[in-house]
Amino acid sequence: MDVGTHDSMIDPGSATADSTEKATMDALIIRGGRRLSGRVEVSGAKNAALPVMAATLLAPGVHTLRNVPLLSDTRTMASVLERLGARVEFRGHACKIDTSNVSSVEAPYDLVRTMRASVYVLGPLLARFGAARVSLPGGCAWGPRPVNLHLDGLNAMNAQLEIDHGYIVGKDVRLRGAQVNFDVVSVGATAQLMMAAVLAEGTTTLDNVAIEPDITVLGEILSGCGARIEGLGTRRITVHGVRELRPIDTTIIPDRIEAATLLAAVGITGGSVTLERCEAGHMAAAMHKLEEMGCEILPGNGEVTISGPSRPSAVDVTTAPFPGFPTDMQAQMMALCAVADGTSVITDTIYLDRFTHVPELQRLGAQIELKNNSAVIRGVERLQGAPVMATDIRASAALVLAALVAEGETRISRIYHLDRGYEQLETKLRGLGADVERIQE
Ligand code: EPZ
Repeated sequence: MDVGTHDSMIDPGSATADSTEKATMDALIIRGGRRLSGRVEVSGAKNAALPVMAATLLAPGVHTLRNVPLLSDTRTMASVLERLGARVEFRGHACKIDTSNVSSVEAPYDLVRTMRASVYVLGPLLARFGAARVSLPGGCAWGPRPVNLHLDGLNAMNAQLEIDHGYIVGKDVRLRGAQVNFDVVSVGATAQLMMAAVLAEGTTTLDNVAIEPDITVLGEILSGCGARIEGLGTRRITVHGVRELRPIDTTIIPDRIEAATLLAAVGITGGSVTLERCEAGHMAAAMHKLEEMGCEILPGNGEVTISGPSRPSAVDVTTAPFPGFPTDMQAQMMALCAVADGTSVITDTIYLDRFTHVPELQRLGAQIELKNNSAVIRGVERLQGAPVMATDIRASAALVLAALVAEGETRISRIYHLDRGYEQLETKLRGLGADVERIQE
């Protein structure tokens, strides 16, 4: 197997390159003060689609994924797979991935540095080809985001990985079952080890695993392809290795973080909205906090209806692994607390430095004081529109929410961050009555 690099074969059906460059220069102009109303559809989940796309490497053949969100992150994963020799074709939200002719095991720095989740190809490559050369992801705005749990777990399974000039390298590897107990609950390491273990020799037991819906459905999808996995949805997963898997044919679950962000948009603006194609059970913690702030929420079959209060009440939030309050909703909740009646405290226990949105919210007039990994937010009557800058996916969503209620005009630049995690958020919000437009800077 050639571990060198291959020029990526851009398939005309794959939407990889040009749209991302254009989006890099875009900004959003939002004029605040409108209540939201109507119905809106939730897209497929980014954090479920990414590991499933990587998992297609486990079985040669044509895989079919439906309801894949059209985001720069899913396009990046498509580029990684194309670099490995797979053919990726998007037809609307359906994605066909042919992994019959994978000819490389190298995931290059130029792609991995744009999206940490590219590291998900490591386990599948080692499991199917016994070799991999995957760039280390590198740093993040919120401080260190190591992959030691991924590497230690794979090495416990006999991967004998080495770090070579910034790359994680494995050669002539035959993965073997092992017992792995994670020090920290990690979504990424759980997915990585589960994907590696399905083709390993013998049985793997993973303890203290993540039980996010993205993980549980990944396990169910792999089981549907012939994998033998027990304990999904519990903190202990047992995987009995099998010789081969069938190609995947699946529909990606709704994005619970996008859905919770849309609920928060109604919570901050007031009004009444029904979300379609979403899973209330996947976002109970966020809905509970929004109810505490005065929202009325009615979960239905595949949909959720929310009515926002005239002014949200202050609330305290502490993030935790699922089913706790998601760190990916921390910034958005901070926007609500910025205009809430009273003082709120938000503590992030997952990423202790995930506060790059704070100075930007302060530019809009928010009163926020940081103390270690907590933010104390004194709610103000009204925010004021201003030019601000997006710094990551969820920080940009928080700025959008704050701008929806700020006086006058807000200009949010660097929204390529938003496009990484939200499919046409401005179009959806405009459909609900918001005054928002995308411009080229
Ligand atoms: C996933 O990231 C999500 N990304 C993140 O969403 C999300 O914030 C995070 O889970 C937590 O819910 C994707 O699914 C693609 P972790 P991941 O491993 O897997 C530490 C978004 O906005 N850790 O669960 O990278 C780590 O530093 C993104 O959509 C280690 O110490 O997160 C963190 O403190 C942002 N060593 C904690 O564990 C490791 O090897 C949880 O991280 C791995 C993780």
